[in-house]
Amino acid sequence: MGLIVTGLRLEAEGVLGIELRDRLCASLPPFEPGAHIDITFPNGLTRQYSIASPASDSTRYWLGVGLAAESRGASRFAHEQLRLGDCLQVGPPRSLFGLDDAAAGHLFVAGGIGITPILSMIRRCIEHGLTWRLLYCVRSRRHATYLEQLAPFPDQIELHADDEQNGRADLERVLRQMPPGWHVYTCGPGAMMDAVCGHANTSGIDRLALHLERFGADNRVNGEADAFQVRLLRHGGRLSVPPNASILEVLEANGVCLPSACREGLCRSCEVPLASGTPDHRDYVLSEEERVANKSILICVSRAKCAELVLDV
Ligand code: FES
Repeated sequence: MGLIVTGLRLEAEGVLGIELRDRLCASLPPFEPGAHIDITFPNGLTRQYSIASPASDSTRYWLGVGLAAESRGASRFAHEQLRLGDCLQVGPPRSLFGLDDAAAGHLFVAGGIGITPILSMIRRCIEHGLTWRLLYCVRSRRHATYLEQLAPFPDQIELHADDEQNGRADLERVLRQMPPGWHVYTCGPGAMMDAVCGHANTSGIDRLALHLERFGADNRVNGEADAFQVRLLRHGGRLSVPPNASILEVLEANGVCLPSACREGLCRSCEVPLASGTPDHRDYVLSEEERVANKSILICVSRAKCAELVLDV
């Protein structure tokens, strides 16, 4: 669907707020708090952005777009060229990260722009009288978004600014103190999320009570890489994937163009069936069961733990 940019606001240093509405003010497709949408910019790039607005508001989607330090063009386009009245192609909301009804309470751990999906989840908690707490970690208050919306809830919110508190937040303490029956939801930089996972594990928090939303490539995506081969079962042919290129890029360079969107292992649009071989799954969306089953691979980021992968394409 095409939606119109009806609001642009600098939410914090390096974070652009974008309001999208239907041209005729029709209701937008509903979404669950924590959902994201695919945005295709006029320069052809498609990226996923979490919806920050309350799910109860069907008139608009509010997004927060952080300016990526190594932007390949999407966030830079949004920050520098997007204007009020522009029309953006927007996919339907998708939910991989949401509140678990089974939880007795909800502990949110947000880092930087990772507050975006969590703000919508907090709104749902407020509207439904659910118990919640937030640890919001930022480099400095200049980088903290939505503070005015969070201000009415000082007892439930701990803001940790690295530059004021001389270092990183004590995630271990926060997770150790989480009451029994609560669930923890985290979104932010990869290192922070990995630390949350590690402390949740040592604190004895059930894996099913831990909910993650990755919002961008990190070390896991850019980790060590070896060369390997891919054989294309139906298309035919065998191609070499060097350490500095993805399977997707190698296929495209050889005229095999398959669907893709985020190119960061976040959206599943590049998933292809795997006929044989052992993949090195580097995406953020396959479940543990799917990783073990090795029936498919996300070719924008995942690689091989063997000499050759056979793709059913
Ligand atoms: S293109 Fe999004 S996961 Fe591969």
